[in-house]
Amino acid sequence: MNRTAFSRVLAELDTHAAHLAPEDLRSAFATDPGRFARFSLRLDDLLIDWSKTSVDARAMDLLARLAKAADVEARRDAMFAGDPINATEGRAVLHVALRAPRGARFEVDGRNVMQDVHDVLDRMAAFAQAVRSGEAKGATGKPITDVVNIGIGGSDLGPAMATLALAPYHDGPRLHFVSNVDGAHIHDVLANLDPATTLVIVASKTFTTIETMTNAATARRWIEAALGGDAVGAHFAAVSTALDKVGEFGIASERVFGFWDWVGGRYSLWSAIGLPIMLAVGAERFRDFLSGAHAMDEHFRSAPLNENIPVVMGLVGFWHRVVRGYPARAVIPYDQRLARLPAYLQQLDMESNGKSVTIDGGSVRSPTGPLVWGEPGTNGQHAFFQLLHQGSDVIPVEFIAAALGHEPDLRHQHELLLANCLAQSEALMKGRTLEEAREQMLAKGTDAAKVDATAPHRVFPGNRPSITILHRQLDPFSLGRLIALYEHRVFVEAQLFGINAFDQWGVELGKELATALLPVVQGRKDAAGSDASTAGLVDHLRGLAET
Ligand code: F6P
Repeated sequence: MNRTAFSRVLAELDTHAAHLAPEDLRSAFATDPGRFARFSLRLDDLLIDWSKTSVDARAMDLLARLAKAADVEARRDAMFAGDPINATEGRAVLHVALRAPRGARFEVDGRNVMQDVHDVLDRMAAFAQAVRSGEAKGATGKPITDVVNIGIGGSDLGPAMATLALAPYHDGPRLHFVSNVDGAHIHDVLANLDPATTLVIVASKTFTTIETMTNAATARRWIEAALGGDAVGAHFAAVSTALDKVGEFGIASERVFGFWDWVGGRYSLWSAIGLPIMLAVGAERFRDFLSGAHAMDEHFRSAPLNENIPVVMGLVGFWHRVVRGYPARAVIPYDQRLARLPAYLQQLDMESNGKSVTIDGGSVRSPTGPLVWGEPGTNGQHAFFQLLHQGSDVIPVEFIAAALGHEPDLRHQHELLLANCLAQSEALMKGRTLEEAREQMLAKGTDAAKVDATAPHRVFPGNRPSITILHRQLDPFSLGRLIALYEHRVFVEAQLFGINAFDQWGVELGKELATALLPVVQGRKDAAGSDASTAGLVDHLRGLAET
């Protein structure tokens, strides 16, 4: 990053933003009929519209100059070239290779990795086909009807999100996901399953994560108790980069699917971590999913900055977070099958960009990644939209919707869904003035005293920014493209923040302390050395557990 140039452009951007205030999006639209065309981009059926944010043409120019000063293009090219851009871990970052076609070339340490990538994909496809066709049977000879994926974080959120998103394409076994170390999770999932027809996938990049290893041991006991120790081989598969550790667990090598340390956990659903998705929808649709992501990779790699969808999303994200100072963003898919997308994006975005140290070890000088949260619409409208419209904080919203649902006989419901999605972004942008609120009430015959008393409560400030993302239909291809868009947007923002998006040291301390506290919670060690609060809480819990 060219820090001097970056600081100079950022100062210009701040000055410009100050002149734009107070923002008035209503008049921006009224005076500029070309606003939507100017501030929207298309890639085939995908459209992103950021015209309902406070940027203007000059802001976009300055943001693009900021991207240049932050070396976004050079850093992007370094990622695609397999350079070790994850500097703190000394690793390449090549999830883009996982969705590239056969014949593509991606090198790590001078070696083309594409053969390895497609070998694993082919082995996954053969295994998925055997399970889906009933050829790979359980130990008692029954076909597999249910698959339980045991993993957490990137080894859970991606496959769980995508499996739900692609429900209309399911034609394989039923999929279940266990992540939490809370025994309630695995208990409740296994309670409804028959061990004789269940396949367990243990998914862990490191094969050391305590939650996953604990749940895997519980699942193994469940299989052994019902079917005997010899049944384990027929009922388990594993996905990991730590093949030696998988061997120790006792899973046969033909049921182990590897990936590589150049795939970050939260970027791993394109690797063998996506096996549950493939089991649910089949190898061909899984390849469509990869193709969608690859289409976005090609766009990201080649489109000029101001026509590049992930770049623009990143620039607008930076505008909101750093220039405007908004601390959060909400992602609201108007698509019930994207219910797990916000949770998935929380890891992708917050584990990547929730950092306060620059890539070269200094302290960041401006805010970094925002709080990311959300729920599907229309449900959110009846929960937290009150705060989005009238709360004291401005929270930019990202709306996602498809033109078509998968239920032709319920088309009227899809139209209602879309009308709600568009109405919310319009309401956030336009708001309602006191005068309009008063007029509406008077037109309905409300008496003047009541109008005076309640009209102020009916005022919406408006000028609340949103981005809308539309596509034709949520299918394997468009889902892959959407996820890759968000991945690259996180990358662009990280470059602008000057941080490394690909490590996650912030998850370590809690893990270390949990390990130290386990014997204390178990009563095998006293709490000496813990702070008074932690010791008091342990005491209280143990007291309650004993009564
Ligand atoms: O929460 C930290 C983390 O390392 C994530 O980055 C990762 O996705 C998750 O734990 C699970 O790790 P693993 O796949 O190694 O079990």
